[in-house]
Amino acid sequence: MNLIFCSAAGNSAAWLAALARAFPGASVHACSHLPDEAAQAQLPQGIDYALLWKPPADLLRQLGSVKAIFNLGAGIDTLAASQALPAGVPVVRIEDAGMSEQMSEYVVHAVLHQYRELDAYAESQRAGVWCPRARQDKRQFGVGILGVGVLGGAVAAALRPFGFPLSGWSRTRKIVPGVDSYAGRVELDAFLARCRVLVCLLPLTRETRGLLDRRALSQLPIGAHVVNVARGALIVDDDLLALLDQGRLGGATLDVFHDEPLPAAHPFWHHSRISITPHVSAATLVEESVAQIAGKIARLEAGLPITGIVDRERDC
Ligand code: GLV
Repeated sequence: MNLIFCSAAGNSAAWLAALARAFPGASVHACSHLPDEAAQAQLPQGIDYALLWKPPADLLRQLGSVKAIFNLGAGIDTLAASQALPAGVPVVRIEDAGMSEQMSEYVVHAVLHQYRELDAYAESQRAGVWCPRARQDKRQFGVGILGVGVLGGAVAAALRPFGFPLSGWSRTRKIVPGVDSYAGRVELDAFLARCRVLVCLLPLTRETRGLLDRRALSQLPIGAHVVNVARGALIVDDDLLALLDQGRLGGATLDVFHDEPLPAAHPFWHHSRISITPHVSAATLVEESVAQIAGKIARLEAGLPITGIVDRERDC
């Protein structure tokens, strides 16, 4: 079997070692993620599968006859946005493979941080003031998950034991135990109105780009907190900043940005109500992902169906 691997993530050696272990009889051809080198590169004949993260267009363009492209992450927006993605080749995303656990840790921490008002206590400490606060009414502290796919469902399950009123919004209705379900644009405002903390876990598509603009963010309760662990472009940055500065929103915990790394001059960096992490909420874990991909390739080779195939009409 012939595989090609190309990743812009900077940990290619670990991937190649794991691929060599998982596919002992296969030839794995590593391609450069640098556009100039990709333009010069000669691909071997007869590639069966491509494993890619943010590949250059010149490489993608040559993959019209592979059996499937495996996207080395959950979000397929970069691949989907490329004009060079060959039509008709199935694209398969990573499903969980250790991401649910990481995402749940991150989001539960962010929600509890808000509910227990730890920023206010940090401020009291800086001022040297002993200032206990009244417990917030949990029944009024709704947590909303925008996007209840694999990761959103796992986050909901991780939040459930804490007893917050949970809601979930998705394009089409999803039934998740313990979560009030909202679906479609017509129910978006009613969903947002319930979110004391809004957790963004939507994929970035034509439909969701800029979904959280001033109008939508203004539907959140006054003082609401926004957690974005999906893609930066779901949010209109200037609208978020304006609503924070007006005191309409309470704060934001942001792991993802329009441009990454977040440019040094971006106002998010030094905003007192914004916490930033560098796109670390849920990393693609190499061993777990290679095991998942190997399992799927074995099924494809046996003519069996697999999960995680991207619906290009809907998700791109
Ligand atoms: C990370 O952002 C991913 O899409 O897996």
